[in-house]
Amino acid sequence: MNVSVQDLLRTGVEVTDAALERLLPSPDTAPHSIHRAMRHSIFAGGKRLRPILAMEAARMTSGTGEVPAGAADLGSALEMVHTYSLIHDDLPALDNDDLRRGKPTCHVVFGEAIAILAGDALQTLAFQTLAALPTPPSTTVSIVREIALAIGTGVGANGPLPPGMIGGQVVDIESEGKQPTAELVEAIHRAKTGALITTSIVSGGIYGLAHIDHDFHADTIGRLRTFGEKAGLAFQIVDDVLDMTQSSEELGKTAGKDTASIKATWPAVYGIDQSIKDAEELIADAFAALEPFGEAAGPLKALASYLVERKH
Ligand code: IPE
Ligand code: IPE
Ligand code: MG
Ligand code: MG
Ligand code: MG
Repeated sequence: MNVSVQDLLRTGVEVTDAALERLLPSPDTAPHSIHRAMRHSIFAGGKRLRPILAMEAARMTSGTGEVPAGAADLGSALEMVHTYSLIHDDLPALDNDDLRRGKPTCHVVFGEAIAILAGDALQTLAFQTLAALPTPPSTTVSIVREIALAIGTGVGANGPLPPGMIGGQVVDIESEGKQPTAELVEAIHRAKTGALITTSIVSGGIYGLAHIDHDFHADTIGRLRTFGEKAGLAFQIVDDVLDMTQSSEELGKTAGKDTASIKATWPAVYGIDQSIKDAEELIADAFAALEPFGEAAGPLKALASYLVERKH
């Protein structure tokens, strides 16, 4: 399949935005402030990469060549979680950023209290949306468990839990101002960013499999997980590089913030050139995991390449 990544991105944004428009309360729903705050951050212009990855994973595993009906709701739930994480990441107590997706951050416009609550509400709405997926109940539970584990407090090395987004955010914040080791940065990146990207791909895969039967194909899910872990780590390495090489205007968020805050980043350990090489190598490894799927893996591979080639 000859896949144009620009077409995938354009269609993916359209489909996701339409689903989010349907799923989020209108700006005139009381209490107005929080619904306006949720919509401000959700519709500020994100790339929608997690929904697009989920929908393309579902297309691949469904075996139909189509994105299964309802997959945009799964994608929207993932985008709600992602946007909640950004609203909280930008708060004064965390990264203290006033620019996001080219717009003033949620707390700048609505105040800290409403921004915190808007993040909380987006996470709640995400699980409400997942619970309403048109999948058999056992599949819905698998998807909910998969996503909940990925966005919690696990950080890998500390116990039986897989890496989790909040755990990664904790270690990121607690590592500020210190010279990071290679092991520390890898653990942070796998958890704070890799876990949500991985679970987007895995939950999309589970969704697509449920389309053809109610079973779980362990090998398919394992391969998608490996693909997601490699691509997710590469994605955060590139995010670190772009923070150093692009302007705030190009990024839609404050450039140079990681160096100013002495963050544990990949370039802080390896330098920019090696970081780019590492990201490219991870994408090659990610491709290898999808080899058995042949041409059906074309869209996911095209998206993985975009993750490292992107400029914002
Ligand atoms: C930014 O994610 C936050 C990270 C996890 C690095 P994206 O680069 O996907 O941001 P949006 O959604 O397009 O704004
Ligand atoms: C954000 O990482 C990760 C999460 C929000 C979970 P960053 O702090 O590097 O993201 P940006 O650069 O602010 O988008
Ligand atoms: Mg951060
Ligand atoms: Mg940040
Ligand atoms: Mg960053």
